[in-house]
Amino acid sequence: MTQPAPEKRLYIKTYGCQMNVYDSERMADVLRPLGYGLTDRPEDADLVVLNTCHIREKATEKVYSELGQIKRLKADKAAAGGSMLVAVAGCVAQAEGAEIVRRQPAVDLVVGPQAYHRLPELIARAHRASGEALAADFAPEGKFDALPATRAPGGVTAFLTVQEGCDKFCAFCVVPYTRGAEYSRPAAAIEAEARALADNGVREVTLLGQNVNAYDDGEGGGLAALIRRLAAIPGLARIRYTTSHPRDMDAALIAAHGEVEALMPYLHLPVQAGSDRVLKAMNRGHTAEHYLRLVERIRAARPDIALSGDFIVGFPGERDADFEATLALVREAGYASAFSFKYSRRPGTPAAAMPGQVPDEVKAERLARLQALVETQQRAFNSGQAGKVLPVLFEKVGRKPGQIAGRSPYLQAVHCEGEDHLIGRIEPLRIVAAGANSLAGERVAAIA
Ligand code: 5AD
Ligand code: SF4
Repeated sequence: MTQPAPEKRLYIKTYGCQMNVYDSERMADVLRPLGYGLTDRPEDADLVVLNTCHIREKATEKVYSELGQIKRLKADKAAAGGSMLVAVAGCVAQAEGAEIVRRQPAVDLVVGPQAYHRLPELIARAHRASGEALAADFAPEGKFDALPATRAPGGVTAFLTVQEGCDKFCAFCVVPYTRGAEYSRPAAAIEAEARALADNGVREVTLLGQNVNAYDDGEGGGLAALIRRLAAIPGLARIRYTTSHPRDMDAALIAAHGEVEALMPYLHLPVQAGSDRVLKAMNRGHTAEHYLRLVERIRAARPDIALSGDFIVGFPGERDADFEATLALVREAGYASAFSFKYSRRPGTPAAAMPGQVPDEVKAERLARLQALVETQQRAFNSGQAGKVLPVLFEKVGRKPGQIAGRSPYLQAVHCEGEDHLIGRIEPLRIVAAGANSLAGERVAAIA
């Protein structure tokens, strides 16, 4: 009788966006048939994968500092007679390629976001050769076709990539260079993956794409048509999507927010800035007014929608008056949450070479003011739920014993007293307390 292959241990660390979270899960799927099981201890790992983010300088630097630590673990393991392969995946891999190996020779292989289905081959090559193995090209079709059809059963919520890449070329952003051109997966493949997830107990999917609302099935159907198709899958109670671009927010998608029950009332719609002068320099392709009217139309379709966004402060040439326009837009739009960042100069992007780079102290001061305003709005949005009864999807045990935790339709974290067997169920909770980042609820009666 042959012995089962000894289990090899895989450690994956994920940086950045939800697309990377999805990609890390899929990398684990690709490597499972090779005998790799996940570990959360890098020192035990036979293979370490850092799935990286290149969006801001800080994100990139974090990767190199982590690699310094991994190098020491690799040396310790080698000293003890073992071995460890180190792979860098994701957008730093795409953007910097072989430069990573020059800067950190402990790295054995570099694999861009469109090539992780080739990990088994790259690992075999890395084992054979002492030189680094490199794969960083653009061909998402090949990747999706080559991924295994099954996914590891996970929790009750899952990410599902439907679109990748970006053709918008915002002047500050590396994504069009690291993730390539806009590409949409065939609707049938997405539906099959969603059905398999639902069969495994997933109740909520978040459709992912760098420009998810640019989704185009090639037959005239956009994201709204895809959402309606997925909403018909038995067991799948909730659908979300992220991230959207204002330019791709079409009438069909707005209408879906008013009509499709499974489509949750939450929308991440980045605007980046409130000054038309800055928006133009950013190459966003929309004005502040256009964005605000869009929000108005979305609220007409779904009045309770929780609006979220992204903002950049200190873009080159941003003056005080421009920043004031951003604050004014935030006040007018009204956010349930938002992410804001200091502009980070990314080599190779048009904004990196623009005059009028803003000093860091000014960026820091603007960021603090913007975040204070957003926090006030977030608190107000959360407090507005107090006393209401909201359907909550229970996802996991809570932080305190005897507690379970889940999400409201508005993506707020909610916890209440309850047992583990409720995980995966949607139940009405009366909201009894609201903080800046979470809500507390009490069970009313089971509905699902
Ligand atoms: N500097 C700061 N923030 C950036 N983002 C993208 N590129 C940069 C940059 N160079 C932000 C944008 C985007 C989010 C994912 O990251 O707000 O929406
Ligand atoms: Fe980057 Fe702009 Fe594309 Fe978003 S729309 S990924 S910010 S280039």
